[in-house]
Amino acid sequence: MKKHLYFTGFMASGKSRTGRALADRLGRPFVDTDNVIVERAGKSISEIFEQEGEAAFRKMERDVIAEIAQSEKPLVVSLGGGALTQAENLKVIRENGTIIRLWAKPEVLSERIGRKNTRPLLANLSDEERLEKIKQMLKDREKNYANADFSVESTNDYSETHVTERIMHM
Ligand code: S3P
Repeated sequence: MKKHLYFTGFMASGKSRTGRALADRLGRPFVDTDNVIVERAGKSISEIFEQEGEAAFRKMERDVIAEIAQSEKPLVVSLGGGALTQAENLKVIRENGTIIRLWAKPEVLSERIGRKNTRPLLANLSDEERLEKIKQMLKDREKNYANADFSVESTNDYSETHVTERIMHM
């Protein structure tokens, strides 16, 4: 049986919030790959992108994903929004778990991302530019997210409790 439950989806689609809630419900450990990378690097995701570049970040991400997939304990894992763009990651994840995609409308994602400004790929953009870029990235990444086994909406009216309930009943 496949062990882990992986959350994928665009930045700010609610992967970490929902993942944590589901892990609590299932009594499983929760792992957020971005947090593991930040802890190991001793700097923020933005600093890693700025100082070492995206390729270095993707390498760290691949290493973390390959490592946690080996966990004997079944985990709930929140992936970074770009993890499935790497074929190597998809292979490891598919072999070891079930993939749940969360999605929300581009306008909702943009509003959430604009509030925080912690995403280097969408930093320093006007509201309009950010929305356009999100739409383009969603188009480019649709083929990656389409690898998920399930897809669940997570817009503003869908609290993590609601999303978790839906996943529990799938
Ligand atoms: C990225 C998503 C981010 C983080 C990095 C790159 C992406 O994670 O891994 O900024 O390429 O979509 P979240 O999806 O958790 O924001």
